[in-house]
Amino acid sequence: MDPAGGALPFAWTVDGTVVRLRSIGPDDGPRLAEGLARLSPETRFARFHYPKGAFSAGELRRLTWSDGVLQFALVADLPQAPGAPLVAVARWVRDAPDADTAEVAYVTGDGWQRRGLGRALVRQLAAQARRAGVARFRAEVIVGNIAAVKLLECVGTAEQETDLGSGVAELVYRLDPAGG
Ligand SMILES: CC(C)(COP(=O)(O)OP(=O)(O)OC[C@H]1O[C@@H](n2cnc3c(N)ncnc32)[C@H](O)[C@@H]1OP(=O)(O)O)[C@@H](O)C(=O)NCCC(=O)NCCS
Repeated sequence: MDPAGGALPFAWTVDGTVVRLRSIGPDDGPRLAEGLARLSPETRFARFHYPKGAFSAGELRRLTWSDGVLQFALVADLPQAPGAPLVAVARWVRDAPDADTAEVAYVTGDGWQRRGLGRALVRQLAAQARRAGVARFRAEVIVGNIAAVKLLECVGTAEQETDLGSGVAELVYRLDPAGG
């Protein structure tokens, strides 16, 4: 089954566990906070580029707001374990209200990595972004983060790379018209 093929919410089975992709909602704050608390220091650093502590109330409000025009976020959760932390999150935020480039970021919980969740999320994210008029994803990635680059490659074509210093690069990918 292609987890990027269905309309949201979309559920499929990963190693015997049902995983669901859906849009983030305002009630996801506590589960988002718990998901962050459970990330290993390595995954946390790869996502935020510093040892990110707990989200503030303001951050949680901002991160759970999604209008599909200025920003959009998808989560993966376990519908058979209500209340369990989110297992993966992916989002884009438009650079400016009239921009066709959006910054993208994603993270999969350590125990769920390398099982296809990241690919499923980013493909859904790109499909929704294209519908919203986003033509490019821009990501700030630690140099050598192969998984992060692979996710960009599955939805677009590399257009630009800028060294931001401190081992971080900004990658710009033009989204493939029909998805990847
Ligand atoms: C990047 C990330 C979201 C990928 O999530 P994931 O759920 O493991 O992704 P997938 O299982 O769909 O794997 C995607 C591809 O990356 C590869 N991959 C995943 N983890 C990898 C690793 N540690 N080393 C090398 N390749 C890796 C997979 O093999 C797959 O490639 P393939 O389809 O050619 O086999 C996850 O590694 C993560 O959360 N990293 C920390 C946060 C981060 O780096 N975010 C990016 C900056 S915002």
